[in-house]
Amino acid sequence: MGKIIAITNQKGGVGKTTTALNLSASLALANENILVIDSDPQGNLTSGFGMKKDQIKAGLYEVYTGKAAMEDAVHQTLIPNLYVVPTSMDLFLSEIELLEKADRETRLRAFLKPLKDRFRYILIDCPPSFGILTLNALVAAESVLVPVQCEFFAVEGLSLLIKLLWRIRGGFNETLDLEGILLTMFNRHLALSRQISEEVKRVFKSKVYDTIIPRNVILAESPSHGKPAVLYAPNSTGAQGYIALAKEILNEHNLLF
Ligand SMILES: Nc1ncnc2c1ncn2[C@@H]1O[C@H](COP(=O)(O)OP(=O)(O)OP(=O)(O)O)[C@@H](O)[C@H]1O
Ligand SMILES: [Mg+2]
Repeated sequence: MGKIIAITNQKGGVGKTTTALNLSASLALANENILVIDSDPQGNLTSGFGMKKDQIKAGLYEVYTGKAAMEDAVHQTLIPNLYVVPTSMDLFLSEIELLEKADRETRLRAFLKPLKDRFRYILIDCPPSFGILTLNALVAAESVLVPVQCEFFAVEGLSLLIKLLWRIRGGFNETLDLEGILLTMFNRHLALSRQISEEVKRVFKSKVYDTIIPRNVILAESPSHGKPAVLYAPNSTGAQGYIALAKEILNEHNLLF
């Protein structure tokens, strides 16, 4: 049975999409069947996989509106066992259109249920907001992975997010768990980066992954080539960071079996 993990943080530009792109690819390269869902109308994950609008017959918006079945929105990527549900800007409309539906916050959970047996992990890339799209992701997910940029106010932002998770547990998804906190864009030459990473570890302890993603220009460059960094430049420090994270996640879960 697959595990659904929402990659979320209400703060923008912290590395959610970069993590969705490269972690999904790294897990797939470890021979796991992986599905990653672009639940951000900005569509950065979709373009990071090199998908053009005219190639997409159905995406998440079409699924939400009932114009397409989820299976038709699942597209294969460059890695044969890695699949993506892409999105277009139309998904912005869902923020309003879903409000009229009685099952507004449980739709994604229902769409993903039949797919859970096919994939070891289903990752969801969330937008930088707490709207109905993020709510759907948090209701569908078993756990959340939170990328945190090593910068000022990281801990304040995280505390707010943890409060939101408790609220979701109290109302919509009783078993929602914190999968882990991922420190991103770490610059080992900066004292600030080191201070912030120590502070986050002090507060959130074992919930923080041992793997820290370094600041590496390859991670920013590779999406413009339509590839995750782990394919574009596998030996780069950024790609190696995500490969190490995939191993950490797989090892942790294997301990449970
Ligand atoms: N480790 C890194 N090193 C260098 N650049 C990075 C790294 N991680 C992400 N970036 C770059 O920083 C920017 C923000 O990253 P990303 O798009 O992954 O964040 P996000 O949280 O998904 O943003 P949004 O909230 O807008 O969806 C992008 O240009 C990305 O390429
Ligand atoms: Mg993003």
